[in-house]
Amino acid sequence: MHSGLHNARYFFTEQNANTYDRIVRYATIGMDMHWKKKIQNKIQGKIVLDLASGTGILSEMIKSNTSGLDVLSLDLSFDYAKISNNRRKIRNVVNANAEMLPFRSRSCDCIVSSYLAKYVDINKVVTEISRVITPNGVVVFHDFSYPKNKVVRFLWKLHFKLLRIAGSIVTSWQHVFLELDQMIENSKWSEELLASLRCHGFVEISSTYFTFGTSKMIVAKKNE
Ligand SMILES: C[S@@+](CC[C@H](N)C(=O)[O-])C[C@H]1O[C@@H](n2cnc3c(N)ncnc32)[C@H](O)[C@@H]1O
Repeated sequence: MHSGLHNARYFFTEQNANTYDRIVRYATIGMDMHWKKKIQNKIQGKIVLDLASGTGILSEMIKSNTSGLDVLSLDLSFDYAKISNNRRKIRNVVNANAEMLPFRSRSCDCIVSSYLAKYVDINKVVTEISRVITPNGVVVFHDFSYPKNKVVRFLWKLHFKLLRIAGSIVTSWQHVFLELDQMIENSKWSEELLASLRCHGFVEISSTYFTFGTSKMIVAKKNE
């Protein structure tokens, strides 16, 4: 098992699935919704796959804001997928690994993901999305990034110090707040993704930073 998969299983547990929605809102100081709207604006086509859908926040947004779309959701954690089903009534949810997609080739027009990239073997995921996406289909990856600006970096580190204190109160998130900043700092997800997308014949590749470089979105189109 590679370290990303190990981290994902260690981070997202039965004990913290129930509080995820609130934690992601507070921990990102409300930016999560803003970032998810940016993902939503890139959606094209009729069948959308939300990879690492978690508790279903993004899947629900896509479904309720765009009519005539079919949304498929997939997550590694059974407990998170269960919440999306019970709380949000997301019916098309699959409990699976994004590195081995249980979907037919050329079956999805658009594939989105939020906070997945740093947990996966990027090449395996891109190989799979490249198979599953339809020609001219669009993929959108979004995840945290380590800010480049020194002042922002200082504030970002301070923010994680505060999250560690919060973790001593909300103990089901303590292990995440102890390690997440280091993981973001060490992750090469965006460089690896850009290289892999080019290798797999994706075109019109664009990268956009949000909120002072603390998160990043990469969008690409599958060549015909
Ligand atoms: C921070 S949560 C994000 C959930 C959701 N995308 C959101 O934005 O609210 C990360 C999610 O990635 C899922 N995940 C991590 N590695 C995965 C993999 N290899 N395949 C599928 N899901 C994975 C975890 O189970 C977890 O639900």
